Amino acid sequence: MDRRKIAPIGVFDSGVGGLTVAREIIRQLPNENIIYFGDTARVPYGSKSQDSIIRFSEQIIRFLQTKQVKAIVIACNTASALALDTVQKEFDIPILGVVVPGARAAVEATVNGKVGVAGTDATVRSQMYTKIIQKMNPEITVIEKACPLFVPLVEEGFKEHQVTREIIDYYLKSLKDTEIDTMILGCTHYPLLRSKIRTYMGEKIQIVNPAYETAMDLRDLLEMQGMANDGSAANGVCEFYVSDAAEKFNEFANSVMPFDIMSTRVIQIENY
Ligand code: DGL
Repeated sequence: MDRRKIAPIGVFDSGVGGLTVAREIIRQLPNENIIYFGDTARVPYGSKSQDSIIRFSEQIIRFLQTKQVKAIVIACNTASALALDTVQKEFDIPILGVVVPGARAAVEATVNGKVGVAGTDATVRSQMYTKIIQKMNPEITVIEKACPLFVPLVEEGFKEHQVTREIIDYYLKSLKDTEIDTMILGCTHYPLLRSKIRTYMGEKIQIVNPAYETAMDLRDLLEMQGMANDGSAANGVCEFYVSDAAEKFNEFANSVMPFDIMSTRVIQIENY
């Protein structure tokens, strides 16, 4: 068996958000093995500088390389927006982000050419979604809105709390009052609030979760490079690592993933 085919895919995020991408990869590519890393000691990324986000991403990629990954998915919009270009040049391994696939899905979905993006402070400040969408179609208007409190609400498991509804109203009112017909969940934590956001925004708005298109891009890449796991050996294994608070992560992950996670290990990410 070709070693490259059975090698795992590295997937990382600042915390639990990237699990929404990992579960989509598992759904679309069930034969692939996954090494997931959540940077729980340094979450949130959305309030950090670009220099820090690049440094964190470099350390995580070096860690994932010790696991012999064949490709890496940055399952974090913030790191995709601020660090992807840099790390793609630095590392000799295929690295995919979530912003380009998410932008493409929105360009295909919008009918009236008005797209909203909800994301972290850093993602919105970078205006990366606007740049990429308008490169694909300069006629499209993009309205970006930073929703920084969504990440701690998700990390703390506050999905059903009244305060979450109030914060959704606080952040998304200005998007709801525009004419957007499509909205990108431009942070991988936000799909975990999807039903609440859907109820608030109403049925007429198409909600785009970039995870779906990202997993499709990954499949194309693996097939093109002859690296797809055909399922004949060592397949469907997932390992989870974090930089802190493994038990809390493990409990959360068990509520998101389609199978039980036996253990999550802590690693000292600053050493990489
Ligand atoms: N889930 C990440 C994203 O997609 C990061 C959120 C954060 O750590 O602020 O942007």
